[in-house]
Amino acid sequence: MPHDPMTTFPAYFRWGVATSAYQIEGAAREDGRTDSIWDTFCRVPGAVANGDTGDVACDHYHRMPEDVALLAGLGVDTYRFSISWPRVQPGGKGPANEKGLDFYDRLVDELLASGVDPWVTLYHWDLPQELEDAGGWPERDTAWRFADYAELAFARLQDRVASWTTLNEPWCVAMYGYADGMHAPGHRDRAAAMHAVHHLLLAHGTAVDRMRSAGGDHHFGITLNLTPAIPRTEADVETARRADGFGIRMYLDPLLRGHYPSDTLADLADEGITLPVEPGDLAAIATPLDVLGVNYYFTETVRADGAAVRTGPTTALGWPITPAGLTDLLVRLHREYPPIPIVITENGGAFPDEKPTTTEATIDDVDRIAFLREHIDAVAQARHQGCDVRGYFVWTLFDNFEWAHGHGPTFGLVSVDRTDQRRTLKRSAHWYRDMITRNVSI
Ligand code: NOJ
Repeated sequence: MPHDPMTTFPAYFRWGVATSAYQIEGAAREDGRTDSIWDTFCRVPGAVANGDTGDVACDHYHRMPEDVALLAGLGVDTYRFSISWPRVQPGGKGPANEKGLDFYDRLVDELLASGVDPWVTLYHWDLPQELEDAGGWPERDTAWRFADYAELAFARLQDRVASWTTLNEPWCVAMYGYADGMHAPGHRDRAAAMHAVHHLLLAHGTAVDRMRSAGGDHHFGITLNLTPAIPRTEADVETARRADGFGIRMYLDPLLRGHYPSDTLADLADEGITLPVEPGDLAAIATPLDVLGVNYYFTETVRADGAAVRTGPTTALGWPITPAGLTDLLVRLHREYPPIPIVITENGGAFPDEKPTTTEATIDDVDRIAFLREHIDAVAQARHQGCDVRGYFVWTLFDNFEWAHGHGPTFGLVSVDRTDQRRTLKRSAHWYRDMITRNVSI
């Protein structure tokens, strides 16, 4: 019998929605913002589906007050958004761009006035292009640049923002950006990608230490995308171990245990790759976390020959729908790592969202509702097994710019008309609001 999510979560449990700057803001060249690596990448022919860009996206920069009213209307208590680095510190160095910071200042005030707690992510993939020109994340200096930027954003908003996430999904930043070339900056160099992993983690730890030392009552965290790898048969166990090392333990172990996993370091040595670890780095990376953000999309079954194993239901992007894997992942974190409060900082799915036939009808995204219900239930089950999960944020508020897929895949609770930017709540938005309301009223 599945647990009824309506009766399972305590009053302190946070319900939220998440977005990121480049995916929704638009206003790419306004008020002093300069290019990020994604602006550059979108101009590379063939890099992004349909030649889409984030130049306009959901035009959130110009529609922020109405968007906050809309998300507050969903009954969420938390809104996770990211700050655009090239908007608040163009070029990634030097003084703040006050006009850029003003936008986030207004956003935070608007949220607080609407009873919604702001949750900041400092880096959701939009590195200032100048820092990439100087070598990007494979360069150690980028970690210090990030810590400076974090301090500057923190100084302006720390009096009203308690929740600070340094990085979103460092695995994707390093592997898609520097090894596979699928994301900005589009490089294919595995050694550079592994150097990026270390510098990202160093950037995280250094930034947390600097922000924490400024004093005040805040919680600091990092958001990881954790994609468990399950071997299909006994013959696939070694492949799963490798995937687990590179995808999960390479991040959790240094953050929570103070060292990289030895089997993965040995895998790297076999490839002739050494991490650029200097004295003191591991201590900096392992600075205490107040919260671990987990982005969960699916669990993958792996085969030694590399072939995909996709048998069950999938989302519009072909991603398997595996809610039980979320319970297993959370229980594993609880059992294998030192105690740490967890928040699911992203979970959601792209679905076809067929347009309604009449103007009064809403998008009837029953598949998304089922997806969210099953995953929320999976969180409830992990909590029943002792896992300290304190919140759940849907990815995402709006249909938006889905990176290399462009505007095609729709993940939103709210659809956005690409011609006139009209926002329309899907059935899932109503469902989410009702579920939150029932939870807070028990
Ligand atoms: C994780 C990323 O953080 C987010 O930016 C992206 O849109 C979703 N996954 C869906 O792919």
